[in-house]
Amino acid sequence: VPVPDHIVHSVSAWSAWREAHAFSDVVILSDTQTAEHCVPMFASEYLNEPFHHLSVDPGEQSKDLSTLESVVEVLLDAGIDRDCLLICVGGGVVTDLGGFLASTFKRGIAVAHVPTTHLAMVDAALGGKNGLNFQGTKNQIGTFYPASCIVLDPRFLNTLPERELISGWSESVKHALIADTDLWNQISVSDPLKLARDPRIILRSANIKSKIAASDMNDGGIRQALNFGHTIGHAVEAESHLLHGEAIAFGMVGELWLSKQLSDLPQDQMDAANSYIKLLHPRLKKLKLDPDRLIDRMRHDKKNSAGHIRFTLISEIGQVQLATAVSPDIIRQALNYTSDYFHT
Ligand SMILES: NC(=O)c1ccc[n+]([C@@H]2O[C@H](COP(=O)([O-])OP(=O)(O)OC[C@H]3O[C@@H](n4cnc5c(N)ncnc54)[C@H](O)[C@@H]3O)[C@@H](O)[C@H]2O)c1
Ligand SMILES: [Zn+2]
Repeated sequence: VPVPDHIVHSVSAWSAWREAHAFSDVVILSDTQTAEHCVPMFASEYLNEPFHHLSVDPGEQSKDLSTLESVVEVLLDAGIDRDCLLICVGGGVVTDLGGFLASTFKRGIAVAHVPTTHLAMVDAALGGKNGLNFQGTKNQIGTFYPASCIVLDPRFLNTLPERELISGWSESVKHALIADTDLWNQISVSDPLKLARDPRIILRSANIKSKIAASDMNDGGIRQALNFGHTIGHAVEAESHLLHGEAIAFGMVGELWLSKQLSDLPQDQMDAANSYIKLLHPRLKKLKLDPDRLIDRMRHDKKNSAGHIRFTLISEIGQVQLATAVSPDIIRQALNYTSDYFHT
């Protein structure tokens, strides 16, 4: 059983962790945005030691083998050995690239994640999965490799563009819907811009992801709960220019509808969740999607097998139902419902 992620949320807790471990070198990996907005604060408040620092270009295109190759080259040139600590300061792109790098460089080095987007704080940096894109398809190459330490510090979110913040917030909404009724009750009545930066909310949401992932490291069972909103959402993401969390917001509305049809989700709970999500994402009003293309994408999703399209649904807020097979006909109805819902 791999060691579970160790989450810290104060400088002193980080220092305690850091002092308990010896490393030959400390290497910070960031992208050029987080190099500017986050690394200086991290270095001055958290690090009392010299470090190497390398940055990749921001954006999804850095999650690939050629970027990995250039990073490895820099590490080797600097004489970095297997006893170093890699610290990934950035969003999910940096933690995925860095997680993969750490799992393979010299057959494995220690990695700490310092997530700087809401999405990475409550999702990407946790749970030990990483991924690189290959020939234009997302996450085709990856490993399971939990970080030794994860630092949650919401102050990094002060410079994150609001669109990114609200996009990442989808994952916290998802965590509430699948596993935490109390969190949902709080979310549904409070300002999302405040909650998404609230340390207690971030920790609570991060814990949901962490616990579910830890109980199913190899992704065979309960971890599928985290897929809520993602069967439709991933297809929408591939067919649009939306951010991940925006596509997931669309996916959750569709899958809430499916949950009402197939898993007895009460109408008033569906209405409350859907109107909350719609209000957060005015940009989804203009979305034009071809249902057949989306269904085709879902059929080819690596999470589906034997021609069945399976969904994680919820029978009530806080309660998941895994692996419900749904016919293309019903999926089409869900997609039509969702498009109409955002349009009107
Ligand atoms: N491994 C997993 O379990 C897992 C889970 C979910 C998502 N992911 C991956 O995460 C990636 C998406 O992550 P993301 O949404 O964090 O995107 P991202 O890493 O691309 O960050 C979004 C943008 O915000 C900028 N940025 C980050 N932090 C900032 C800050 N504090 N201030 C200013 N700008 C900042 C980045 O430079 C980037 O331009 C995807 O590649 C996805 O596949 C992985
Ligand atoms: Zn997601």
